Amino acid sequence: MINKIIITDMQQSDISQALRMWQDQYELYCTGDKAYPDYWRKSTKEMEEFLKKKIESKTAVAARLDNVLIGYMTFDEFPFNGEKSVFCPAVAHAAVEQYKEEAYLSLYKSVSQDWANRNIFNHMWTINYNDFRLRSILYDLGFGSYVIDAFACASDIISGCCEYQIRKAGLQDIDTLFHLVEKSREYYRSAPLFLKRDQYSKKDLSEIVQNGGVFIAWEGSNAIGFINVSISQRHNIIELSVSNGGLIDEIGVYIKPEYRGKGLGKELLKNVFDYCSSNGIKGIHVDFETANLFANKFWRKYFKPMLLSVRRTVNKNIND
Ligand SMILES: CC(C)(COP(=O)(O)OP(=O)(O)OC[C@H]1O[C@@H](n2cnc3c(N)ncnc32)[C@H](O)[C@@H]1OP(=O)(O)O)[C@@H](O)C(=O)NCCC(=O)NCCS
Repeated sequence: MINKIIITDMQQSDISQALRMWQDQYELYCTGDKAYPDYWRKSTKEMEEFLKKKIESKTAVAARLDNVLIGYMTFDEFPFNGEKSVFCPAVAHAAVEQYKEEAYLSLYKSVSQDWANRNIFNHMWTINYNDFRLRSILYDLGFGSYVIDAFACASDIISGCCEYQIRKAGLQDIDTLFHLVEKSREYYRSAPLFLKRDQYSKKDLSEIVQNGGVFIAWEGSNAIGFINVSISQRHNIIELSVSNGGLIDEIGVYIKPEYRGKGLGKELLKNVFDYCSSNGIKGIHVDFETANLFANKFWRKYFKPMLLSVRRTVNKNIND
């Protein structure tokens, strides 16, 4: 079967069928929970634009069986942590269920040869979290979990209380926040996460605080943690979040080690849910690395994973 599949450059005439294929997948894997954004099931405007550009830039390939489109794949190239990398976001691929394995293997074989020829050894790919078949296909190719994109409804009730005070941050708290954010950078850099994050200057933090959604937890006069939510202004085709949704991003959430596991994270999150609800926000998005041992447990309690980004490193001496 795999020998009969032909890989060619994708054509503008493939777009409408590719969009239908993508939406079938979304319907199958991303509509099972009320937290998942409905927007992408109904609207294909952004996706159509995305595919058009990819076809023009010749970074889109199509898999055909007996002249019928059975899958497509497009990608972005960029430096990731200093390494030449390719990234295939969730919108950038789909295949018909019937020929899923054959289509994806043929597509990846074709594009990855081109990537390796150009010394691009870091391959990243976002798939629907609930697509266990594709996960298994990619696992056998050598991909492993990296990041999860998850969603929650702001109206969900988070119950619980803790002994610490939580207050919305103001400009008077910038020095305190700076110190905590630096602590969080140390945490991200450490094992087993090994994530290098850029520094936030006090000016950056002032802007984030002025935007409204930073909450700091206090034990007396001692700041022990924070959480940050912002409100999105646009639909984001890469993480599939939507305009006017809550985003837990930028400085995220951090609690000092000795205060973890006592309900404070939950209480900070309750403040975020209340803040979003009182601002008319329905859905909230978060992403987190699966190698973040705390985050990987914490977010799954309140958020529903929708996308899974996986990563494969190809042997770097292949072109020697
Ligand atoms: C992630 C973090 C904010 C969670 O806060 P926390 O105060 O430790 O979490 P809580 O005590 O409020 O726990 C909330 C729930 O998550 C669960 N949970 C939290 N951490 C867990 C862990 N390591 N293992 C298992 N369950 C865990 C708790 O059991 C609890 O469940 P419940 O709702 O059924 O009671 C905190 O651990 C932290 O700051 N970690 C370091 C920074 C970080 O990882 N930030 C996230 C970046 S994406």
